Amino acid sequence: MEEKIKAYLAEVKAFDSADPEEIERFRIRYLGRKGAIPALFEAFKALPPEQKRTLGKELNGLKNTAAQRVEQLKEIAQLANDPREAQDLTRPVYTEKPGTRHPVNLVKNEIVNIFKRIGFNVSEGPEVEDDWHNFTALNFPEEHPARDMQDTFFVARNPDWALRTHTSSVQVRTMESQKPPIRTISPGRVFRNEAISARSHCIFHQVEGLYIDKGVSFADLKQTLLYFAEAFFGKGTEIRLRPSYFPFTEPSAEMDVWWGLENETDYRMTKGTGWLEVLGCGMVDPNVLENCGIDPKEYTGFAFGMGVERIAMQRFQIPDIRLLFENDVRFLQQFATSF
Ligand code: DAH
Repeated sequence: MEEKIKAYLAEVKAFDSADPEEIERFRIRYLGRKGAIPALFEAFKALPPEQKRTLGKELNGLKNTAAQRVEQLKEIAQLANDPREAQDLTRPVYTEKPGTRHPVNLVKNEIVNIFKRIGFNVSEGPEVEDDWHNFTALNFPEEHPARDMQDTFFVARNPDWALRTHTSSVQVRTMESQKPPIRTISPGRVFRNEAISARSHCIFHQVEGLYIDKGVSFADLKQTLLYFAEAFFGKGTEIRLRPSYFPFTEPSAEMDVWWGLENETDYRMTKGTGWLEVLGCGMVDPNVLENCGIDPKEYTGFAFGMGVERIAMQRFQIPDIRLLFENDVRFLQQFATSF
């Protein structure tokens, strides 16, 4: 009996066919009621107990292997004969499309990496902020109209808790918890209670920069921003600084990058000026340093903040900010090679 089991097992393993009728004949020959394997089971009953013990396992193994082989071949035959399936069973399987980086992340990572190269570390803060970190420590006086510059989402009608309106709140947290020199870059999501349109959204991303040390001057700020503009927009990029106002910096400025005025799109993107608005910046106001426990007589510093969606829209010529939030894969797939 042992020989027979071995011989059948070899035959079962060697059998191959994609023809359903041939597979059925094979099944009947080995597994059918009068087939070879049931015949062995019949003979098995008459064996002495000690032989039963050793051969039982092998006989069962043979039966299972034969049954599996039949199922397997039937399945393959079915696929091969199905007109909906390609007939070529050697063709490669369909591949899963890998995910792609979101354009906002591509731009954020690039900005962060540019600043990492000159010694900035990365810091983050919470998206739900208290009034102190989002406004008061940043020199927004209570009831001051400057707070209206950034319409706020409050949390559960508690005026002390809000979704942060800018990543400048991370500046405060960093200065409160670290001693200068501080050189940090803080990317993150921010929220403003504003109507959604092609140009603005109530959720977007910013990257904040902060540098505090002894003797940091406006010239350092300008040079750092020029370095960034050339690294991001290309060598030879020109920048200009326009005086501006932010409660947390004095003096304050906005930086524009020369984009050009060669065609319709340039006109639209630069509102006819040829200059692209890129970021807000300034020297950290001494009140802010003091609020965060840093002596303004000993230290000075600069800060800047930029909107990531705005820059991504410029870089990829995206006409509507809402495209960045819909996550339509047909849109996102276009950035598949932009790693
Ligand atoms: N927080 C400002 C905003 O959301 C951007 C900004 C301006 C950040 C000037 C700064 C800065 O750090 O110095 O509009």
